[in-house]
Amino acid sequence: MSDNPLETPLTRHAGIEVPLICGAMYPCSNPELVAAASEAGGIGVVQPLSLTFVHGHEFRAGLRLIRSLTSRPIGMNALIEKSSRVYMDRMRRWVNEAIEEGVRFFITSLGNPRWVADAAHAAGGVVYHDVTESKWAARGVDGGVDGLIAVNARAGGHAGPRDPVALLEELRPFGLPVVAAGGVGDPAGFVAMLRLGYAGVQMGTRFIATPECRASDAYKQAILRAEESDIVLSERITGVPVAVINTPFIQRMGLKAGPIARWMLRGRRRKKLMRSIYGLKSLWQLKHASLDETGEKDYWQAGRSVAGIDSIEPAGDIVRRFAGD
Ligand SMILES: Cc1cc2nc3c(=O)[nH]c(=O)nc-3n(C[C@H](O)[C@H](O)[C@H](O)COP(=O)(O)O)c2cc1C
Repeated sequence: MSDNPLETPLTRHAGIEVPLICGAMYPCSNPELVAAASEAGGIGVVQPLSLTFVHGHEFRAGLRLIRSLTSRPIGMNALIEKSSRVYMDRMRRWVNEAIEEGVRFFITSLGNPRWVADAAHAAGGVVYHDVTESKWAARGVDGGVDGLIAVNARAGGHAGPRDPVALLEELRPFGLPVVAAGGVGDPAGFVAMLRLGYAGVQMGTRFIATPECRASDAYKQAILRAEESDIVLSERITGVPVAVINTPFIQRMGLKAGPIARWMLRGRRRKKLMRSIYGLKSLWQLKHASLDETGEKDYWQAGRSVAGIDSIEPAGDIVRRFAGD
């Protein structure tokens, strides 16, 4: 055991210095942001759809671009929910290409992570699994993961139902390192999570308000302006609650799924179809809203961590400031 409070099971697993993950973000993860977080001693995580569909890089070329900006470890997010065959085949190809390009840290979300764990372990890598409660953690542990990312009720993106304290208690019995995701926007929040016993913190929203992130300035300014009470959960984006800033556009749209969508989401097969429809529509809408400089499409995902974010700051400075440098 070392005396350095920044040395945790996460830093040892990922081969990094600061237990801080710049989480995968559709549509906000671009190569420059991922590289900057890693170069400063944390770890940036590639979101494959964001890399390819939003930022226009062929997958392997995008990884090489990141590699040209930093030689330090980077991660990859594999969303492994069983959906279409084409999507799963593509995800398998991306995971294999990432391994060939030297990626050794994977974060899986949804579904059974077994095939990712097998591939990563064979190459000497590790897999952390995103979970919101113990039933999903049990699935991840059965699938052979090495750590858990505990997504709490304060997170940006798809938030969970629990607060960070209750969630850590619920996940501790699995005996794996647990990383906190959600609600951390300043160094005090980061230190508080490490003191609670988390092995690290994954942040999303804080890293949008950086010069490296390609999101529009209107989106970044909205994060700086927003208070915790401006974050609402909308079901209209993907059919399950997503944390967004409560803008006039969101107010006009309403937060609940409409009656037809709700009926479609009830049956099992209908649910699958509705989720794909929502999925395709939201991928397109989120891409355009995040890049639109006019700010008219104010359809912006962010978590309650907005409260602690009051300036646009380089991603590397954020990592160093959180590490106490
Ligand atoms: C705009 C945005 C997009 C996100 N997209 C993804 C994603 O594609 N995959 C994923 O696993 N998590 C996604 N997340 C969750 C983040 O990786 C991270 O867990 C979360 O942002 C932590 O909460 P915070 O925003 O309060 O820091 C997203 C979060 C945000 C804010």
